[in-house]
Amino acid sequence: MKNIIVGQSGGPTAVINSSLLGVFKTAKDRGADTVYGMVHGIKGLLDGDIVDLSQRIKTELDMDLLKRTPSSFLGSCRYKLPDIKGHEETYEKIFKILKELDICAFFYIGGNDSMDTIMRLTDYGNKIKSPVRFIGVPKTIDNDLAITDHTPGFGSAAKYIAATTKEIIRDGLVYDYPVVSVIEVMGRNAGWLTAATALAKGEDCEGVDEIYLPERVFDVDKFVERMGERLKENRSIVVAVSEGVKVADGRYVCELSDHVDYVDAFGHKQLAGTARFLAGKVAEKYGVKTRAIELSSLQRCAAHIQARIDVTEAFNCGGAAVKAAFEGKTGLVITLNRISDDPYMCIAEEADVHKIANVEKKVPSEWITEDGTYVKSELVHYIMPLIQAEITPLWVNGLPRHVRLHYAPKDR
Ligand code: F6P
Repeated sequence: MKNIIVGQSGGPTAVINSSLLGVFKTAKDRGADTVYGMVHGIKGLLDGDIVDLSQRIKTELDMDLLKRTPSSFLGSCRYKLPDIKGHEETYEKIFKILKELDICAFFYIGGNDSMDTIMRLTDYGNKIKSPVRFIGVPKTIDNDLAITDHTPGFGSAAKYIAATTKEIIRDGLVYDYPVVSVIEVMGRNAGWLTAATALAKGEDCEGVDEIYLPERVFDVDKFVERMGERLKENRSIVVAVSEGVKVADGRYVCELSDHVDYVDAFGHKQLAGTARFLAGKVAEKYGVKTRAIELSSLQRCAAHIQARIDVTEAFNCGGAAVKAAFEGKTGLVITLNRISDDPYMCIAEEADVHKIANVEKKVPSEWITEDGTYVKSELVHYIMPLIQAEITPLWVNGLPRHVRLHYAPKDR
């Protein structure tokens, strides 16, 4: 048996470390010698930033804390490998490092951009007939990966968003004068996470008034008009908007006020300011109190409200990836196939990375209302099983305890 290496890439989640643990523990249980971790993903590998995970995860307590620790324990990157053609030296360098470390399998925990890395390494590996296997472990709060029913990370973010939305709705009703609250939710060009605000509605909660997903063109004037109509009847109005809503000419709403300068390696613009812009428009037109609530990083790192089902599935995806690699497979991403809603049951399967890398899965049109201002019950039923059950943080001094990777370049 040889060594394996694992990295985390892209935006973090509340359960990405459970996938890391799934890879680590399953590889150890199946007889791997050293489990290496790339610090800051493939970029770290290229820079020689590698740690021996067995030296960092030693006890049962370390493992319990790791799965309760949000964000990426190993650090992350948004780094796009160049085209193989014309950049062979980058790939030669990576495969030389893998050979020196005696790596038999490479695991990358990430979303559709990160799977581009698995795809390119698989293609180069096949070209040079390398024995190293490359397997992707799915992760993203955005839930926009193709083929899989859903992605680890989504359920916990959806649980946080739905719970927080309930609290925002209660807060909005506290005064005897009107307040318009606009909640901005992550998810880029897919509205899965924004749709999770619909879960707030129940016998103890009025629910949000409107929900806007990026799958539909956004009309700012119509939105302001609709708020005016609602203000005639309601004291508190709560609206959820995706950070990725765009107007008819293709510009993001957040670009209408702010100049978006920052673009990452995959060409994604930094999206923020949608709620601020829309709340400003409503305040300007009607002179009412408004709140712009950007859930931002809070929604992807809320480990104090992890969904137990999400933690379990994240771990299992890591384990399934190791199993696939140790069976000699390569160029795959682990997927989740829902075989039953009630009782909820999902099984881990495998898909060709070429069908997943760089592909964005959007909310189907039939799950959005005709006028594009809310979501249908099918979407609520789809999300509901994914937020179920809890896992208690380990509280120390009144706060959840986390683990940190103490790493400096001198550790090399
Ligand atoms: O990884 C997905 C995501 O959380 C998106 O929902 C969001 O738009 C993006 O990451 C933000 O990325 P960054 O942390 O690089 O600003």
